[in-house]
Amino acid sequence: MMKLFNKILIGVAGFGALAGIALAGDERVKEHTGPSSNIAWDVPQLLFVLGGDPERGKELNTKMMCYTCHGKEGVSAARNWPSIAGQKANYTYKMLIDYRDEKRVDTETSSLMVKLAKTMSEQDMADIAAYYASFPLPPATRPKLASKEAVQKIIPLLTDGDGKRMLPPCFLCHESGRSGDGRDTPAILGQRAEYFRKTMQEYKNGSRHNDIYARMRHISAALSNEEIDALAQYFAQMK
Ligand code: HEC
Ligand code: HEC
Repeated sequence: MMKLFNKILIGVAGFGALAGIALAGDERVKEHTGPSSNIAWDVPQLLFVLGGDPERGKELNTKMMCYTCHGKEGVSAARNWPSIAGQKANYTYKMLIDYRDEKRVDTETSSLMVKLAKTMSEQDMADIAAYYASFPLPPATRPKLASKEAVQKIIPLLTDGDGKRMLPPCFLCHESGRSGDGRDTPAILGQRAEYFRKTMQEYKNGSRHNDIYARMRHISAALSNEEIDALAQYFAQMK
């Protein structure tokens, strides 16, 4: 217990230091004007998403044909497209709002989602988020992005982070790869490895910049490409 607590403290201290870098100007992270997202997770906002109707979400999924790309039951049809099964409703909702508000707009394939999100009401978004949250997380797969040795090497990053690079442990926020903290941290377990790699690279080069406080931009910028591949492999193959 104490050990875990210490780890969390170290993680929080590490994250505080990260925020410090952001203030001082982290040259690895591209600046963007305006807030990274218009979402504020206050109580009314949390209650609104919590009230999403999965039955209506199911009908919308059929009508809007989300399943043609994200797959039946949320396991994506293409390897570099995201699976959204079992995802925390808050995160799915935030992504749809960010696409609608053109906060997640500069990546290669985001325009597909921007166009769709602009046709949705906030109630539609909450309902569809509740529908996808009702599925289990995607099943484990065996992609071939990294060797066994490379995967072994990134294990300490999950639980301890790396103080020298001011990297907080992944599990500080993404508990065991599942949904994590109560607000906006996504589940990453079972995510398509190719999409995982792509989105981490997009945080790293700043084309994805809808993460509040630039948390994932700072973290990705401190990781090597080999580490990103190994992390993508790890989360895809774990169960
Ligand atoms: C034509 C294919 C297509 C359709 C139809 C589609 N999506 Fe997407 N979706 C994508 C792609 C590709 C991405 C990744 C885009 C990017 O790089 O930002 C994505 C991203 C997302 C994300 C972000 C996932 C994450 O892990 O960050 C969510 C949530 C999402 N879509 C929900 C939906 C919903 C709900 C619908 C139906 C209303 C839908 N999508 C319809 C292709 C599609
Ligand atoms: C300080 C908390 C925190 C830590 C530590 C953290 N993450 Fe994240 N992560 C987040 C948040 C919050 C988001 C959602 C950001 C957004 O809105 O785009 C996220 C998003 C992601 C995504 C995108 C998921 C998707 O479906 O598009 C991936 C992949 C990811 N994190 C991997 C990692 C890995 C790997 C580590 C460890 C090296 C890590 N994260 C450490 C908070 C964290």
